[in-house]
Amino acid sequence: MKFINFFLVNLVIVLAGFNYSAFGQEKEQTPVSDEPAKLQVCSSCHGIDGNKSITPDTPKLGGQAADYLAEALKQYQNGMRNHPIMGAMAAGLTKQDIKELSNYFSGQSSQLFTKY
Ligand code: HEC
Repeated sequence: MKFINFFLVNLVIVLAGFNYSAFGQEKEQTPVSDEPAKLQVCSSCHGIDGNKSITPDTPKLGGQAADYLAEALKQYQNGMRNHPIMGAMAAGLTKQDIKELSNYFSGQSSQLFTKY
């Protein structure tokens, strides 16, 4: 009998909790994110933190200076840097995208290294 009471009390608590959220009394969760809108595209090659490159010729971006990254992206756009993949990637970026992405990758931990 004790067990049944315990069960019922719990059931009431669970149902109360269910009703509470079902009637929308909980505050809407706004996603906390400072991730740039276009990050997903870039992360498929550079990694979500800019440090997991899919190929050896894909540079690490994490911790790199923001102005360097922004400049590189502008150069892919204007043809000063000529690379078929990054040319296409940069072509669709607005000034705001470049700013957001450069600041984001710059703010990640650095795993840059030199061989010598
Ligand atoms: C399909 C793979 C791929 C995707 C997707 C991609 N990149 Fe790249 N990225 C590369 C490769 C490969 C290079 C090296 C290009 C070169 O040799 O100039 C590169 C180079 C760069 C560089 C120059 C880094 C340096 O050290 O000079 C920046 C900055 C960069 N990418 C940013 C981005 C951003 C921002 C995005 C998303 C909008 C993106 N990339 C999407 C493959 C990719």
